[in-house]
Amino acid sequence: MMKLLFGITLIVNLLAPLSNIAFAFSIKILIDAGLAQNLERLTAALQLSGAVICGFVIMNYFAKWLTNIYAQNKINYYRTFLINSIFELNYQEFSSIKSSDYQHILLNETNQIQQDYLQGRFNIYRNIALIIYSLLGMFIGNFILAVLVLIATAIPILISSLTAKKGTYHKQQLLKQEKTYSNTIKEIIGGYLTIKNYQAESAIKQRYKQQLDNYSKAQSKLKNIENQTDTISELSGLIVFLVAFGGGMIMTAKGYTTIGSVTAIVQLVNFVVMPINELGILFTRFRGAYDINRELTKLFTHNKAPVNYIQNKNFTNKISLNQISFHYPKNKTLILSNLTVDFNKGKKYAIIGSSGGGKTTIFKLLLKFYTPNKGKILVDDTPLNELPISWWYQQIAVVDQEVFIFNNTLAYNVTIGRHFAQEKIIQALQQAGLANFLKQINYNLNYQCGENGANLSGGQQQRLCLARAFLQAKPIILLDEATSALDYKASDIIENTLLNDTNLTLIAITHQTKISPLYDQILKLENQQLIPVLDTN
Ligand SMILES: Nc1ncnc2c1ncn2[C@@H]1O[C@H](COP(=O)(O)OP(=O)(O)O)[C@@H](O)[C@H]1O
Ligand SMILES: [Mg+2]
Repeated sequence: MMKLLFGITLIVNLLAPLSNIAFAFSIKILIDAGLAQNLERLTAALQLSGAVICGFVIMNYFAKWLTNIYAQNKINYYRTFLINSIFELNYQEFSSIKSSDYQHILLNETNQIQQDYLQGRFNIYRNIALIIYSLLGMFIGNFILAVLVLIATAIPILISSLTAKKGTYHKQQLLKQEKTYSNTIKEIIGGYLTIKNYQAESAIKQRYKQQLDNYSKAQSKLKNIENQTDTISELSGLIVFLVAFGGGMIMTAKGYTTIGSVTAIVQLVNFVVMPINELGILFTRFRGAYDINRELTKLFTHNKAPVNYIQNKNFTNKISLNQISFHYPKNKTLILSNLTVDFNKGKKYAIIGSSGGGKTTIFKLLLKFYTPNKGKILVDDTPLNELPISWWYQQIAVVDQEVFIFNNTLAYNVTIGRHFAQEKIIQALQQAGLANFLKQINYNLNYQCGENGANLSGGQQQRLCLARAFLQAKPIILLDEATSALDYKASDIIENTLLNDTNLTLIAITHQTKISPLYDQILKLENQQLIPVLDTN
């Protein structure tokens, strides 16, 4: 379908400029008829010119209309591809791109691709076709004059091709500055309270001013180049006209040609010079958008890990970490070293240890955000890296301090858009300790949580996250200081619910000093290893 649309759009764009040529010839007929003082021929020529103008309007409008439809469809397809690709990134790839960059990509950069690449491409084709037709018309009309004009036209093309590269470079610089500038704005707005509270306004303002400066410098540099290119092409336009009219009039004086023909050829020259000017700008923009398109495709095209093991049954036995060593990609210090531990199904584990020791890192490995540098993680004796992530995420849920609340209803925030029965949702919320809150809001599951959960307290947000895990009845739950925003009593109640669920495998990172006796094992992360503190069995 897209290919057919592309084909039709291309053909119409290539045919539309023919109406320009027809116009030049109708002018020739008109002038020659006028000079011959032949009123009958003049009337016919006027009618012809009128008809040609109608054709011109229809063809060119149709070409633009089709181009727009094509570009719109294609860019939406592309944006969908980008979103799908983002979901296919692994965590490491995903987190290597800043969130503001994702916004920039999906909005600004794709806009640029739509205009300068998808639409720009057809504008380029249309202009090139116009140039070719006009040149052909000129050569057929008057060979010698065409050669003279061509030589005069070649000079500005050479000059503009020299400046085009410079223009591309400065355009890229400008985009870079624009990104930094817009990031700073975002930080100022996002960090507003922090900035004011810590009286950092003047430092931030200074940084803002610096970046605004860089941004406007980059803008004026690009504008300068564009102005230079403009002036050169204006000048060369005049020279080309001088050559065409001057040469033409000499030939007319000598009786080689008619004024009508010269006027038509000048008209054709116009149809060569005009698109050449436009092509300079179109090409520069096209190149910029083309580069962005290539970068994006590179960024989002990646090898999908082959899945050679399809697991149908649920997790049955144990998760084993076997001689695991790990450091983060950008930092060579080992966080975990030869760590070995078994987490058995249905058992409850508490992990303690000093802050920054690497407790959360263990969870990141379990969640496949990162792969250990050494050692293996086995799930029921199958290496975790061979298990499909979709299966694994049906088994495991994580609740941590960083709660993400969608600006949507309570129900949406528990189900995240998937379908569940209303009673199940309420049950999960009650289980997570939100029974009182539910009563307060009259069991209204359409309660709006607000932007970033503004209409919920910190503790309610954490409970909501727990409810997500309860609702989907995941056999394994990881808690990463998940009840930090709750008071002891509340967190005890929730913890006990989890600890009394005999089927559930629970691994809880906790900073609490008093650890419930219901845990089967307490493990301390010390010297990059997990050491059992007290075996309650
Ligand atoms: N993405 C990362 N890149 C580099 N270092 C990291 C990253 N995430 C955490 N670290 C470092 O790894 C160490 C362990 O962090 P973490 O596992 O979060 O500790 P804990 O949860 O025990 O407080 C810390 O020194 C932390 O700075
Ligand atoms: Mg942590």
